[in-house]
Amino acid sequence: MTTDRSGSRFYGRRIGRPLRAGMQALLADQLPALRFDPKQAVAEQFGNTTNLADDLAADLALEIGFGGGEHLAGLAEANPTINFIGAEPFVNGVASLLRHMQTRNLSNIRIWDDDVRLILPALPAAGLASVYIMFPDPWPKKRHAARRILQADMMDILAQLIRPNGQLVLASDDPTAKIWLLQTALAHAQFRWTARRPADWRHRPPQLPATRYMNKAEQAGRQPSWFVFERCP
Ligand SMILES: C[S@@+](CC[C@H](N)C(=O)[O-])C[C@H]1O[C@@H](n2cnc3c(N)ncnc32)[C@H](O)[C@@H]1O
Repeated sequence: MTTDRSGSRFYGRRIGRPLRAGMQALLADQLPALRFDPKQAVAEQFGNTTNLADDLAADLALEIGFGGGEHLAGLAEANPTINFIGAEPFVNGVASLLRHMQTRNLSNIRIWDDDVRLILPALPAAGLASVYIMFPDPWPKKRHAARRILQADMMDILAQLIRPNGQLVLASDDPTAKIWLLQTALAHAQFRWTARRPADWRHRPPQLPATRYMNKAEQAGRQPSWFVFERCP
């Protein structure tokens, strides 16, 4: 467990297996220029990468806990006119995302290699078109419930940040986490669950790439669910 500058506690891993030299070089060479800077205006940080006219602001999306970055890189590749911020304190995951960005030649992602809660105050109100929280650490024991990333106060913050009709996308394969995610999001008056029928949460929406944890779950015979919420106008 580490306590950061905001006083928030982060219980996950920051470092895993030792990185191979190539991945260490990627981190050293690429991360400084691609690191999200909470002190700088968001639009400035993406430069002229969106092909949009200068007077149009590009859509902005956030992925919280991108793990190995497969999902984030897939979204960024499929949506070149959207700018993405990805937050992930696990250094091996950050290196993995950098490799995906290099391989796919992606320039529309900025990386926050720390606890997402440190940058939320720096993001523009109603400035996010979508937020993704894919297969968050489930912390299934009741006594660890306070460690789960989605809490009522996080929903309040997301309600400030996601623009009207913007999306909050949640996914999990863990039975406790599924109920928690669903109940926490349903309890917030400014979000509406978009599902109409069971197929809407039992199948991955076609526009969403696979994630590493999703693949692990499916290989182990666990059934993931996807919950897509909309910020009420
Ligand atoms: C179970 S993994 C899932 C990774 C990925 N989304 C996937 O589906 O493969 C959860 C990830 O969330 C990250 N995480 C946990 N708390 C976080 C926080 N406060 N800010 C950003 N990331 C966080 C962890 O480091 C971990 O990589």
